[in-house]
Amino acid sequence: MYSYKTLQELVNRKIDQEDLAKEPKQLYEPIKYILSLGGKRIRPVFVLMACNLFTDNVEKAINAALALEIFHNFTLLHDDIMDNSSLRRKKPTVHTKWNSNVAILSGDAMSIIAYEYITRDKKNNFFEIIDVFNKTALQVCDGQQYDMGFETEKMVSESDYLKMIELKTAVLIAASLKIGAIIGGASQEDAELLYSFGINIGLAFQIQDDFLDVYGDTKVFGKQTGNDIRTNKKTYLLIKAFELAKDNDYEELYKKFFVDNKPTEEKVNKVVNIYNKLGIKEIAKKTILEYFNEAFNNFEKVSVNKERKKELSFFIKNRLISRDN
Ligand code: IPE
Ligand code: IPE
Ligand code: MG
Ligand code: MG
Ligand code: MG
Repeated sequence: MYSYKTLQELVNRKIDQEDLAKEPKQLYEPIKYILSLGGKRIRPVFVLMACNLFTDNVEKAINAALALEIFHNFTLLHDDIMDNSSLRRKKPTVHTKWNSNVAILSGDAMSIIAYEYITRDKKNNFFEIIDVFNKTALQVCDGQQYDMGFETEKMVSESDYLKMIELKTAVLIAASLKIGAIIGGASQEDAELLYSFGINIGLAFQIQDDFLDVYGDTKVFGKQTGNDIRTNKKTYLLIKAFELAKDNDYEELYKKFFVDNKPTEEKVNKVVNIYNKLGIKEIAKKTILEYFNEAFNNFEKVSVNKERKKELSFFIKNRLISRDN
């Protein structure tokens, strides 16, 4: 059994060893840049930890772990263009530091590098793993499109929102766990339980991200807060606010998002004031915990002894439930 810190160090070491001093520099420098900024690296750690539930030979999941992390970083390069975000991991986003064309092409290259990694080990489970990866990659695109489409839609229900975040965020976390489990030799049933576990973690994780976009500290969160409000995102917080707001508050929200929706600080302040008045912070916190609890229900059913599950539970409690970045 390995601690999550050991596995994270293993991932960090492998990523640092990646040779990115390649030509053309304009293509590889941004890749080197985004990877050098680190991030939490939860997806590759999930791959290795899920594998480690079933075997101590975690080395055999390292290529898949890197594939998932590089794929995730590719989505960030493109996502930051779509969301007009200037800050990522406390540093300028790639399209801000270079330009959008650079971020598009470096992102494309990263998605191909991710595929190179996932196809490196041609073992028995090769096709099963590729299937999960392909399906997931396309679902992330579906989710991103729903997310963008919702920016101009008035009627987005909680269930529409949940479907959207399941696609844009949760499936990649779930796939990390499932792929790690498959490589570790899990039964089909356990691999599926870990997938469901990952979906619930992913839903909690994205609602936390929405929460931190409003209530986080940029210096810790590493992204510019208020961006979801500025860009008209249908976040969990906004959907709840529309559900609960009455009279003037409802009209104000409506005006700020659908009539006079300029991305100003005044909009951010007004909307946050309404959130505070309606107790949205507490509602979001409660929902986040509910999804984490649901995740633990899935995890309990995985047929691995308690002792072996401790590290993954610890990782979630320690690194995810109370995260501020
Ligand atoms: C950011 O993911 C995108 C979301 C799904 C919210 P992370 O919060 O895992 O970003 P890094 O990799 O740690 O920077
Ligand atoms: C994350 O959504 C989904 C993907 C990057 C695919 P966000 O747009 O909320 O992520 P951040 O907040 O920019 O990291
Ligand atoms: Mg986005
Ligand atoms: Mg974004
Ligand atoms: Mg976000």
